[in-house]
Amino acid sequence: MPPRNNTGQQYAIVWRPQAGPQFALLSMAACFDDPNGTLHPKTNRPIQRTVETFFGGARGGGKTSGMLGRWIRHASRWGRRARGILFRKTYDELEEVQEQARQLYPQLGAKYNHGKRLWEFPNEANIRFRYMDRDADADNYQGRSYSFQVWEEIGNWATPNGIDKVSATLRSASGVECEWLATGNPGGVGHNWVKARFVDPAPPGKLFYDDTKNVYRVFIPSKLSDNRILMENDPGYADRLRGTGPDWLVKAWLDGLWDIVAGGMFDDVWRPAVHAIDPFKIPSTWTIYRSFDWGSSAPFSLGWWAIADGDPVVLPNGQKLFFHKDTRIRIAEWYGCQPNEDNTGLNMIDTQIAIRGLEIERELMHVHRVKIEAGPADPSIFNVVNGTSIAGAMANMGMDFIPAPTGPGSRVAGWAAMRRMMMASQKMPMEEPGMFVFNTCRSFIKTVPSLPRDKRKIEDVDSASEDHIGDETRYALTYARREVQMLKLMGA
Ligand SMILES: Nc1ncnc2c1ncn2[C@@H]1O[C@H](COP(=O)(O)OP(=O)(O)OP(=O)(O)O)[C@@H](O)[C@H]1O
Ligand SMILES: [Mg+2]
Repeated sequence: MPPRNNTGQQYAIVWRPQAGPQFALLSMAACFDDPNGTLHPKTNRPIQRTVETFFGGARGGGKTSGMLGRWIRHASRWGRRARGILFRKTYDELEEVQEQARQLYPQLGAKYNHGKRLWEFPNEANIRFRYMDRDADADNYQGRSYSFQVWEEIGNWATPNGIDKVSATLRSASGVECEWLATGNPGGVGHNWVKARFVDPAPPGKLFYDDTKNVYRVFIPSKLSDNRILMENDPGYADRLRGTGPDWLVKAWLDGLWDIVAGGMFDDVWRPAVHAIDPFKIPSTWTIYRSFDWGSSAPFSLGWWAIADGDPVVLPNGQKLFFHKDTRIRIAEWYGCQPNEDNTGLNMIDTQIAIRGLEIERELMHVHRVKIEAGPADPSIFNVVNGTSIAGAMANMGMDFIPAPTGPGSRVAGWAAMRRMMMASQKMPMEEPGMFVFNTCRSFIKTVPSLPRDKRKIEDVDSASEDHIGDETRYALTYARREVQMLKLMGA
């Protein structure tokens, strides 16, 4: 006998949550009263704070299906006032969600509107699926409002910047209880920020409050073994997964383990409040050198670094700053990247870069009154083709470089040195040389702290990422000036 609703009508069940985590997901409230008792100025009732629900952990744990089911709950409750949006990082990833929706939503009478690119339900609720490849795309959503928002595979976003921007569109002028949900597996490029935000603060299933963002959060873990439907219909799934990544990652995917080394190369050691410092005048006894990573269709990076000599810096207001001897400070940069296009170069030629670079150096020398020395650069620019090299052409203009170490292990050794120096900067007083950047070095701050690890070789950075400033920094930090090298040779 088909079930009946409370008005006696028969209905068919098209989707029901599986026992366990999916059931918990569907039972979770969308919001709760403000824990401090803050009242709404107009209604004098407690302000409602959203619960940011993070669902997942394991591959195949029923995450996507759970999200589609939760939308059915929202849509049936709020009808035409329900406006949903579900994001994935890339267009291709969306197809997987769309396919599951095509299997499910038409059974509820929903129709896909191709013009508007959204699912329309018989009660006029609607949900759209979109992708957000670049943080800049977040601006497209300004001024919109959605009552239901999902971030599928949230760990595929390297930082929460774009997500946080779009999350501001979660609102309803018609009193709908807004819902914010995310799914994800360990091991993505965003592993560390996702773990810090949703997994670490409280035990699984326990609601906690983030008073900096004024939201409740909860982490509902799901394992592959919780997805009985998949386990029964496709018993070979776990084995197939075993072939798709390194063992440690597959184990983390199957069991939803978050205590693995993954995500960003520097997320655990970079502290903006410690490492990004206000600019000051470099003492005349210090040294400044340049560092360079070549790029033409891809961005190039030119950075200027000061080396502390161990004496404190006295600021005009009398304040003293202490840096361990040989600490490196990035004081200026020129990132050769198209202004609104991530990871796209300026197509400039070597001499053009040298001319503008030297102009910047004249300005720097005017401010700091310190001569700027040659420094390390990408070894490939020393390759001679048809009798000339990029390094040769730049040296002819007056901008010379020394080849950075190359060969097996140099990348990994460079990242390790960067991590060590970032850690050293956190100790006060410093016990060994550290690194800092002037907070005017915006491109460094934007691209380096979030550099993802290579999934297959976790001690290296993913070389498909925007790693040009990272490379230039690696050259700069492992660079020992000639004087220092000479002393070492002499056994000093
Ligand atoms: N409640 C449910 N009812 C029917 N089928 C379900 C249910 N939950 C999960 N499934 C099925 O199990 C399979 C895997 O689930 P789903 O795609 O939701 O997992 P996932 O965690 O999103 O996986 P991935 O990590 O690959 O994205 C799908 O085919 C889905 O339809
Ligand atoms: Mg999925």
